Amino acid sequence: MGSVSNLKIDLVEVCEAAARACAPFVGSGQKDEGDGLAVDAMRKRINEVKMNGVIVIGEGAKDEAPALYDDEKVGTGEGIGVDIAVDPIEGTNLFAKDMPGSIVTLAAAPAGSMYRPGSCFYMEKQVYPKVARGKIDAEAPVAERLKQLADSLGKQISELKIFILDKPRHQELMQEVYSTGAKIRLATDGDVNGAIQAVLNMGSDALFGIGGTPEGIVTACAARAMGAEMFGRMAPQKDFEIELCKKEGIDTKRIIERDELVTSDDCLFIATGLTSGAYVRHVKVGYDAYGKHKTTDTVVLDGGIGNIRHVMTTVHV
Ligand code: FBP
Repeated sequence: MGSVSNLKIDLVEVCEAAARACAPFVGSGQKDEGDGLAVDAMRKRINEVKMNGVIVIGEGAKDEAPALYDDEKVGTGEGIGVDIAVDPIEGTNLFAKDMPGSIVTLAAAPAGSMYRPGSCFYMEKQVYPKVARGKIDAEAPVAERLKQLADSLGKQISELKIFILDKPRHQELMQEVYSTGAKIRLATDGDVNGAIQAVLNMGSDALFGIGGTPEGIVTACAARAMGAEMFGRMAPQKDFEIELCKKEGIDTKRIIERDELVTSDDCLFIATGLTSGAYVRHVKVGYDAYGKHKTTDTVVLDGGIGNIRHVMTTVHV
């Protein structure tokens, strides 16, 4: 029987192709142009992968940006059934401004194993490293959760760093965190990047706050692949979204556990760097004796095997 883990090299190439395609637009101030190129390159390469894939959660609906669409069939149609969640450019503003933390990202898991969020574009997320798994009460006040996290890491609360998106909706959350003495790493965008820092415990100890649902599903695959902890909760923000969620009967109070967000250990999280980051490097365009080339740096978190792989690839173009 096939496994999703066996598709990793093909799916790495999907992310690499997207990164190479949009590389000329890093720092160009033009996010949609870059996003369009990344989407097209991703679509072309993913349709060569021998799998019966479906985009369970694409991107674009929230911002009306270019996208791989929800329910779009991808792959050759042969082989195993695969749920795919994608974000061809996660952190489009960071990409356009060449600020740290923009990545191409894709997650994959067996067909039927990814959570379907309906029309809810925003999700409240809590992400913690592996040592904290099973030790956090997701519904406890922030101060209590930080104590539980500090105890599991063997740190003082004042030594914790929490990644939070710098958004007006997070003012109260930020005050709660500061009042415990914990520190905050703020970023204008890119909560997948913040979550991976917490999963790998590289730069942040946890991620709190509300961000995109597609990013949440991608993050859940990373957390599950690494045995880390995650909780989600649907958190519609825009008026039309609140209405749609009501109509669809989406419960905005219920905590959704990591293993409901993705129900299989055979899951992959892949991220290729577009701008500089804590765990992947900037995509580079260079010249050597053979001509112009593009170099990409990709991390693969593989739940099927339980390992972390770094792939650096140079392609002459
Ligand atoms: P884009 O890649 O679509 O620009 O998303 C960036 C991002 O910051 C995500 O990391 C985050 O989940 C989401 O936007 C938050 O949405 P909003 O900016 O609408 O608050």
